[in-house]
Amino acid sequence: MPYKNITLQSENNITLVTINRPDKLNALNIETIDELHRAFLETENDQNCKVIILTGSGNKAFVAGADISEFYKFTVEQGKQLSADGHTKLFNLIEDLSKPVIAAINGFALGGGLELAMSCHIRVASNNAKMGLPEVSLGVIPGYGGTQRLPQLVGKGKAMEMIFTAQMITAQDALNCKLVNYVTSSEELLNQCKEIATQICKNSPTAISAAVRSINAGFAGNNGLNTEIEEFGKCFGTADFKEGTLAFLEKRKPQFTGC
Ligand code: COA
Repeated sequence: MPYKNITLQSENNITLVTINRPDKLNALNIETIDELHRAFLETENDQNCKVIILTGSGNKAFVAGADISEFYKFTVEQGKQLSADGHTKLFNLIEDLSKPVIAAINGFALGGGLELAMSCHIRVASNNAKMGLPEVSLGVIPGYGGTQRLPQLVGKGKAMEMIFTAQMITAQDALNCKLVNYVTSSEELLNQCKEIATQICKNSPTAISAAVRSINAGFAGNNGLNTEIEEFGKCFGTADFKEGTLAFLEKRKPQFTGC
């Protein structure tokens, strides 16, 4: 089924996913979440895709949050379902994807928009980006993982300040508190993301997916060190491991197959 609210472009093993509702500042309505769910499953199964870059269309917003017009009349049960569905369909899916996802934050990343960026593995922001979790100013809390992922990235104190004040921070502030990895000009944003992606593409996809599982296990409280031992051991059974070590010994560049 074709997409209405997002676009996908693939080149050099990198898939660019763009959320395309610029007139609504790319706000995440349920239809867009469903499309992103399908798109990320598609990239996960695409043998040619090694890294995904996620961005928003236009020069104003990455994503200005969940679509307020859709949920303002929801009941307690519907609110709970909205959050649960979002976690399963999109935010956890991205975090646990076996391929690295880089958020190219090209403007406002607010509420669900910042939560979406935080579910990605790496974040790069343009210097005009503004980030925040303004939910308490609407009488609600972050419901797409923000109360958990923001403290992981910036620490509990800074996360509490950002959530309680509902204020936006600048890209430079986000860099200072480690919410983003890099800040660039708007013009350079996608290039910088592609440079990181290109570097990742040189490495073993099987090892990278094992690293994702191992790192995430620790943050999920699932005994990360035990997961590391298991995943480390499994690497020895892969063709990528044989190729990577042999290429080193033969003083040549490895040709990884992701097997
Ligand atoms: N949900 C639904 N629609 C949204 C939206 C959201 N989260 N964020 C922006 N929009 C819509 C606006 O309603 C407006 O639509 P309209 O032209 O049909 O009225 C359009 O996007 C442009 O937004 P606008 O507010 O006019 O732009 P601005 O430059 O004046 O302000 C923001 C930009 C980001 C400061 C402002 O849009 C905003 O505060 N958005 C909500 C942020 C938020 O609280 N997110 C968390 C949601 S849980």
